[in-house]
Amino acid sequence: MTTDKTYRLAVLNGDGIGPEIVPASVKILDAAVAAAGAPAIAWQELPLGRAAIDTHGTAVPDETLEALDNVDGWLLGPHDSAAYPEPHKSLLNPSGTIRKHFGLFANIRPAKAFRGGNAIVEGTDLVIVRENTEGFYADRNTFAGTGEMMPTPDVAIMHGIITRAATTRIAHEAFKLAMTRDKRVTIVHKANVLKMTTGLFRDVCRDVAKEYPEVSVNDFHIDAATVHLVRRANKFDVIVTENMFGDILSDLAGEVAGSLGIAPSINSSDTHAMAQASHGSAPDIAGKNIANPIAMILSSAMLLRWLGAKFDDAQILAAADKVEAAVDLAVLEGTVTPDMGGTTGTSEFADAVVAAVARV
Ligand code: IPM
Ligand code: MG
Repeated sequence: MTTDKTYRLAVLNGDGIGPEIVPASVKILDAAVAAAGAPAIAWQELPLGRAAIDTHGTAVPDETLEALDNVDGWLLGPHDSAAYPEPHKSLLNPSGTIRKHFGLFANIRPAKAFRGGNAIVEGTDLVIVRENTEGFYADRNTFAGTGEMMPTPDVAIMHGIITRAATTRIAHEAFKLAMTRDKRVTIVHKANVLKMTTGLFRDVCRDVAKEYPEVSVNDFHIDAATVHLVRRANKFDVIVTENMFGDILSDLAGEVAGSLGIAPSINSSDTHAMAQASHGSAPDIAGKNIANPIAMILSSAMLLRWLGAKFDDAQILAAADKVEAAVDLAVLEGTVTPDMGGTTGTSEFADAVVAAVARV
């Protein structure tokens, strides 16, 4: 079906390389949407991060959260919250705040090697489905407070939570995704030590698996999973895991697929979705026009796919196809940033992808 819907998307540039890679993605989405014959996206830039601390006294202004609730989706740039002045540095960071506020429980993180990219394991094409609302991220597990405490200056305590409800929900995401792919799911846990918590995660995923008899299932402890990923990432299809394991494994998988700079992600609930690269704000290379925008661009394409599925919109799905194919083509033609072994700048790469949109 074609809807001719005009999507309203928000843009949160963030810190570090954010103001370079987010506008690059906006430009490419505009080109792809036009090439697909879909109505132009209505963009709305919102304050966030270090700049918002200066203008609004907080890294995540209330007006930003309110505006996000009224758009179809948004692009979140990385943040450098470790460099914020106090008290902002000690608060929940911007992406955590937004994920928690909107209950974005599914963090979907593909790691796919490009033809012509410098993959460590050629042929890698996997997706990590990371539970995004609980697990060992202590700050996700409290209504108020951080989930960490220091009874004395020499003792620090945190807690982790795994629930049947949240695990069931993320497991369904993983198995539904596997049904559209190679129909294989790997559960990652640490049930030999964290028996009750990650054991529950594993067992609930296995229960959900029974509803998807066509999908084959195996599981690994997190430590063993890292070993298999480094050597044999191309043997995985879908990996489902808790929050912190997913955070760590997705960096590893991105690099194994070629560069953390190509690792995209989407954070979603049934009603809201946020495109966000898996990597951080890379302050060391900010402002140098050398950051790889691919992760942010492909995250934005994932957002278009999510919208296409939600609104049954073939045009926006076609635009997502064009973004991905144009990035593939630019990489194949060797137009890549330094992290992938090339010499192309961030904005020149974006221009090359815009030009490639017309050829795919
Ligand atoms: C990620 C990031 C974030 C996280 C940081 C920026 C707080 O590492 O999205 O993977 O830990 O979730
Ligand atoms: Mg991370």
